[in-house]
Amino acid sequence: MKVLRSLAQWRDTRKALTGTVGFVPTMGALHAGHASLLQRSVAENDVTVASIYVNPTQFNDPDDLAAYPSLPAADLEMCDSLGVDHVLIPAREDMYPDDYRYRVEETELSRELCGAHRPGHFTGVLTVVMKLLNLVRPGRAYFGAKDFQQCLLIRRMTEAFFMDVEIVACETVREDDGLALSSRNALLTDDSRKLASRLNPLLRSPDSDRAVAEELERLGFAVDYIVSRFGRRLAAVSVPGRRGTVRLIDNVELGENGSVNRLGSVRSSASD
Ligand code: PAF
Repeated sequence: MKVLRSLAQWRDTRKALTGTVGFVPTMGALHAGHASLLQRSVAENDVTVASIYVNPTQFNDPDDLAAYPSLPAADLEMCDSLGVDHVLIPAREDMYPDDYRYRVEETELSRELCGAHRPGHFTGVLTVVMKLLNLVRPGRAYFGAKDFQQCLLIRRMTEAFFMDVEIVACETVREDDGLALSSRNALLTDDSRKLASRLNPLLRSPDSDRAVAEELERLGFAVDYIVSRFGRRLAAVSVPGRRGTVRLIDNVELGENGSVNRLGSVRSSASD
């Protein structure tokens, strides 16, 4: 496995690549959810490229950026053990030679749900994903369906800009109690980890979004939203963490009768 920290080095490497290229962009602190994306890419492509880049422009809160976990040695070990061919680890400043004067902005969905609570977040995500896709030029790029809104915005961006890449949304990987895996889970205290286990079962309850939100608040969650949309029930909540609060997002598929029945992957036809 090759680790590339300079974009010039990466561009030379990319020129020499042949066959199909799968790409898994990450912000590091890799867990079993990332492992499932990497495994799928390795199985479906001749070459797999992962990137590790904690993208500053998608953090609207500097404390959140400072607290974001970083485990570079373990990340590289995981990539190597799963058969990843190349890991791109750009320096923070190298991704923004323009000082972020050029941005990819979506003007509707990006301002709702998580975007309403994290102003500018999705502009940062779309901009860095566009940059990474331009650098890596993969045939397929893999994202976790836990970040449902992100998956939808990225897929729609690639369609809007006629980008020649397939966006593959992969099933959320969960702990035994249903908690969706997230790099942020490392920031939970023992008590908040216990509390967090209540989120997924409640999202699957047949009760209304409002009733679920009220029950979560009663249990001690701060609720940003519980909303049924795109055939799913989408949630963003916060619990106390080791350093400030920890924001957790999740979503479950809604059944045809409107009740929650089982988990599913992102549908490419998902629409309002
Ligand atoms: O989902 C993430 O880890 C990030 O938002 C991504 C897609 C790597 C962009 O920084």
